[in-house]
Amino acid sequence: MSRDVHFIIGASGQLGTEFALALHQAGEAVVLSDIKPPELDALKDLPFECMDVRDRDVVHQQLIESGATHVHHLAAALSARGEKEPQWAWDLNMRGLLNVLESATTSPLVKQVFWPSSIAVFGPDNGPVAAQNGHRLPETVYGMSKQAGEQWCAWFRKHHGLDVRSVRYPGLIGELSAPGGGTTDYAVEVFDHLEGPEPYSCFLSEATTLPMMHMDDAVGAMMQIMSASADQIKNRESYNIQGMSFDPKTLFEEIAKHDPGFKAAFAPDFRQSIADGWPDRVDDSAARADWGWSPRST
Ligand SMILES: NC(=O)c1ccc[n+]([C@@H]2O[C@H](COP(=O)([O-])OP(=O)(O)OC[C@H]3O[C@@H](n4cnc5c(N)ncnc54)[C@H](O)[C@@H]3O)[C@@H](O)[C@H]2O)c1
Repeated sequence: MSRDVHFIIGASGQLGTEFALALHQAGEAVVLSDIKPPELDALKDLPFECMDVRDRDVVHQQLIESGATHVHHLAAALSARGEKEPQWAWDLNMRGLLNVLESATTSPLVKQVFWPSSIAVFGPDNGPVAAQNGHRLPETVYGMSKQAGEQWCAWFRKHHGLDVRSVRYPGLIGELSAPGGGTTDYAVEVFDHLEGPEPYSCFLSEATTLPMMHMDDAVGAMMQIMSASADQIKNRESYNIQGMSFDPKTLFEEIAKHDPGFKAAFAPDFRQSIADGWPDRVDDSAARADWGWSPRST
């Protein structure tokens, strides 16, 4: 029997780096791809294809040539950068996803596709807790692209039988790779400022509570939903998953307990209004019931 091959698009990013490492350490065959090579030493000897996911022919060719059985499409423009460069963000997020979904349907070996959505699909009218099918009229280009992307995933399932699986990630916190221009980046960036002489300047206000998740749980969710049986995946758009929820003030007070010299200042910028449109937490009971989602850090 031939072995599964995991083809990871966007493998040099914050999530891709950690996911590629976890799969490699689990003994899986992995092919990395991105427009830039991986920075982590532990990934540098793995097969790497420099590929622009917006190039339909190249995506198709790479999925065939790599023998991919599982495609993990993680290349995207994130929320904050997307508001600054909307056309680029829409093009990358939509054209990239459509290229991957279409190529996967025509690549005979591909069994599954994983594509992450985001809490950014939620509009501002949900109250503090967003239900699985909460109000989804997002006000950012990023959120609009994720909302449309979810519907495309369901469409490819319905019309082509493609086994696409998706979760709506909250803000991700990991230490192996820098964040890529999102609204929750402060929770990672702050750890690079612990030694600095100046207070850390946070771009969100102190009481901005958002859903967040440690990278171990983010990778765990991906592994868990990909290994569930197809009939457990009842939602073919995307599943809410909740980790922990906190605000900048609470995080900084915790840091100060370990580093008494640490100081932070608050200077909210354009990212505040993005964060204000998002829920404080999400209801993930559907993911728990359907495929047994259970985070380690809450
Ligand atoms: N990081 C988070 O907090 C978060 C939260 C919710 C959802 N997500 C989703 O998870 C996925 C991964 O996010 P991330 O944080 O790792 O993002 P990232 O910005 O860190 O990584 C994205 C990667 O895509 C690559 N890329 C950009 N343009 C490309 C192109 N044209 N072709 C191929 N590769 C290209 C980049 O070089 C980068 O390595 C995205 O779909 C994102 O929307 C992330």
